[in-house]
Amino acid sequence: MSRELRVRSYAKINLGLEITGRRDDGYHDLVSVMQTISLADTLIFNPSDHISVDSGVPELAQEGDLIWKAAVALRDTTGTNQGIHVRVEKEIPSKAGLGGGSSNCATTLLVLSKIWKIGMPAETLAKIAATLGSDIAFFLHGGTALTRGRGEMVESLPDAPSRWVLLVNPRESLSTASVFQELRAEEHTNGSATLRLASREREGILDYKLMRNNLSLAAQRLCPSIKPILTELREYSSATLMSGSGSTSFGLFENKQEARAVEEMFVARNYNTLLCAFIPGHEVMREKLKTMYI
Ligand code: C5P
Repeated sequence: MSRELRVRSYAKINLGLEITGRRDDGYHDLVSVMQTISLADTLIFNPSDHISVDSGVPELAQEGDLIWKAAVALRDTTGTNQGIHVRVEKEIPSKAGLGGGSSNCATTLLVLSKIWKIGMPAETLAKIAATLGSDIAFFLHGGTALTRGRGEMVESLPDAPSRWVLLVNPRESLSTASVFQELRAEEHTNGSATLRLASREREGILDYKLMRNNLSLAAQRLCPSIKPILTELREYSSATLMSGSGSTSFGLFENKQEARAVEEMFVARNYNTLLCAFIPGHEVMREKLKTMYI
């Protein structure tokens, strides 16, 4: 690697998320349809003789930590003595249900396996990803995907029909672990709606009425300001849901002007908003291919 490499690390939303049960290992089994969106951090890779991460601000310690863990896991698995310096330009809000830390971790695994010239099979990379966090395997693929198990089993789906995504965040963060802890057994569901959502996706249809997230009530108990956001967003978008374990909610729109108008209303009330779009799998792939030319 002779020059700086800048790679976008995309966020996700969950178009569906059903928790189906609690496991003996403390995790939960789930069924989810995940979608890459255009909101992205930028990771900047520079040559170095050791591993170091500059995540910018102290509250990003967790993201920085996951990048560092990815590099160390790859170094330890392969025995390479190469180093890297990674700097993060942060755009994805942290602890917001958008997968920023997991995305950064997966991007680091993909980029380092290329620039360190480690010929690692995709399954081995996926195994390392699963040891670092439940969502990370999804970000090795991107686009639209069905995930199962604790999130680490990923099946790519055809790209969902394109949509504008209005993200609304109450300016409060939520830890994934605390939301899972707050979840009640009676809020578990059997996953059938999300599996049907995935089947409809295979037919090229995004079926709004199958979209649900059964972490939503647990997150609202911990962060009551999510509820008025969902109520209001639902007035303007029939595809409104909280993403992941929160605290961000989203509404989907076919028309950008309409999405922009709704965004302005939330901005006027001092919510944190972002307007972005679905990113198809091939665009995620193009970003990854950048490393081929280094
Ligand atoms: O896997 P990850 O580190 O992202 O998960 C963070 C926390 O969220 C876990 O420690 C666990 O408490 C909870 N979790 C869960 N079931 C999952 C994924 C996460 O209970 N499938």
